[in-house]
Amino acid sequence: MFNTTQIRQDFPILHQQINGKPFVYLDSTASSQKPLCVIEAMNDFYRQYNANVHRGIYQISEKASAAYENARKKVGRFINARSWRELIFTRNATESINLVAYSWGQTNLKAGDVIITTEMEHHANLVPWQQLAARTGAVVKYIPVNEQGQLDLAMFDQWLTPSVKLVAVTHMSNVLGVIPPVEEIIKKAHSVGALVLLDGAQSVPHMPVDVQALNCDFLAFSSHKMLGPTGLGVLWARQDILTAMPPFMTGGDMIKQVTLKGCTWNDLPWKFEAGTPAIAEAIGLGVAVDYLSKLGMANVRQHEIEMTGYALERLSQVEGLHIYGPFDPLIRGGAISFTLGDIHPHDVAAVLDGEGIAVRAGHHCAMPIHDKFGLPATTRASFYVYNLPEEIDRLVIGLDKARELLAI
Ligand code: ALA
Repeated sequence: MFNTTQIRQDFPILHQQINGKPFVYLDSTASSQKPLCVIEAMNDFYRQYNANVHRGIYQISEKASAAYENARKKVGRFINARSWRELIFTRNATESINLVAYSWGQTNLKAGDVIITTEMEHHANLVPWQQLAARTGAVVKYIPVNEQGQLDLAMFDQWLTPSVKLVAVTHMSNVLGVIPPVEEIIKKAHSVGALVLLDGAQSVPHMPVDVQALNCDFLAFSSHKMLGPTGLGVLWARQDILTAMPPFMTGGDMIKQVTLKGCTWNDLPWKFEAGTPAIAEAIGLGVAVDYLSKLGMANVRQHEIEMTGYALERLSQVEGLHIYGPFDPLIRGGAISFTLGDIHPHDVAAVLDGEGIAVRAGHHCAMPIHDKFGLPATTRASFYVYNLPEEIDRLVIGLDKARELLAI
């Protein structure tokens, strides 16, 4: 059974005082905390079998290689990939998307082609497409979104022609929390021959994600938002697409044969993993995936629905507080962005910090959606497997205090 109080015992960082108050961590959308088993798995690697992978003919190198590749298999099973060869380890979700933009994009796009994305993307799923368009002469179009996170799909329908080569869309917004109707978007995109990249940075940590059921073409996500370490991201793509793509970075490990005249590429997935990879981090992610799988992703999602529903209800009672994104927890994740009257979001976050509560304030790496709503910034609270309803009560008390102290 999903027992948050018990889960919290696995996260040493949560058991401390900040500014003399019990710590409340409400910024998992930016980065999640790590359970002891992940920290210990990485520690064990460095203490017992630290060695490079795919190179050494000695015991600990073979052990490191097996652990690294086993982590890949676990991540593949976690998202129901057809094969572990479809999983590429990168540095983060941003690098995964850049890999697609440079390798697939540069090869397949020409002047006049269209990339469709949305107004609510974070910069990782926006800047690479703008830059790809600048390099190729392609055009980027942005599906409009309203304050409740609803996409203008009529506009999307109008834009769908065979010139559309890629639709790149978030699977869960890090600002509005909304889970867009990606199944419908994928079907429509495929009907004109476009490929679909899902930005799973928020969805993969928080709900069951099955790439075969979704029928998407690319999925990018990050280890550090799903209980794993920083410095590691994942790109999943269909094997036939990856086979046709040229390498992104070149150098060691991604080659099969090198002569002074040229070289041949390694098999998948190593063709896309140049240089020594993030070995300890991959092992850590593998253990994070074990941990989440043991909790059960359906239970993780259910906990998030309950926390989000409770938070939306409690936050709605705070005088002067305005929430961005949908009010139905069934169509959203647990990132809740808001403003509190005219108080600057940074000031709200500073008062909350004084109460031992960590939230994010700023543009959340998504300036265009803030611009659209005429906001320089919002304050954002977000939840994960270790958060309790009592922490939302603490947030509400902290917000009341911010209003009393700072309301103009
Ligand atoms: N995209 C991350 C966030 O939402 C960094 O905070």
